[in-house]
Amino acid sequence: MRLNKYLARCGVTSRRKADDLIAAGRVALDGQTVTELGTKVNPESTTVTVDGAEVSLPQQYEYYLLHKPQDIISTADDPHDRKTVVDLIDTERRIYPVGRLDADTTGVLLLTDDGELTNQLTHPSNEVSRTYEVICEGALPDNAVEQLHTGVDIGEELPAQGDLGILWTEENKGAAHLTLRAGRYHEVKRIFASLGCQVERLHRVKFAGLTCGNLAQGEYRTLDSDEIHQLKSRG
Ligand code: URA
Repeated sequence: MRLNKYLARCGVTSRRKADDLIAAGRVALDGQTVTELGTKVNPESTTVTVDGAEVSLPQQYEYYLLHKPQDIISTADDPHDRKTVVDLIDTERRIYPVGRLDADTTGVLLLTDDGELTNQLTHPSNEVSRTYEVICEGALPDNAVEQLHTGVDIGEELPAQGDLGILWTEENKGAAHLTLRAGRYHEVKRIFASLGCQVERLHRVKFAGLTCGNLAQGEYRTLDSDEIHQLKSRG
């Protein structure tokens, strides 16, 4: 590959400006300065430096959206050798889920080997939005929407806040959409317990703007470059 193209692919600068760097004697191959435009490089076997600092191609990661089925745990490795969400994806890479869903929860789950993006999407300060559809047993209090708005005590330092939209209620049953912006352990179940109900069925409809679309439980797809870009720019 031509050196200017390689430098551009590494994100150092544009191809034209890479020629200026080369001509200025700022680029070295295996420690030898090169100034000839049109120099070729084999990235597999050559160390390329600019002003003495090594440059390299950005790593290509894999990104999947899984419609997580029920009764599958969302860890990468299980000490008891149970089937995990990672086993559902056909890849040789060491991917892992972005956050966790309980074994009995279904819905959108991202998996990747991109640690930086995982941190961005799971760090509470980034307030990545996640929406759940909840079917619960027990009557939701009349002021449930307001309670979620001001914050529900779930036994932690900070109350849990979110947007609750009631879908329907019957005497002893109800369904709602709940949108949260932090991923705390068993958060939805603890919120509903605090409201006096028990979660009977939990499905994550949306995570960071992504939905399952037409995927059936257990099916997955890769994310396209626009979706990856959007995820990276929201953090
Ligand atoms: N909150 C829960 O209680 N369980 C999940 O799986 C996700 C959010």
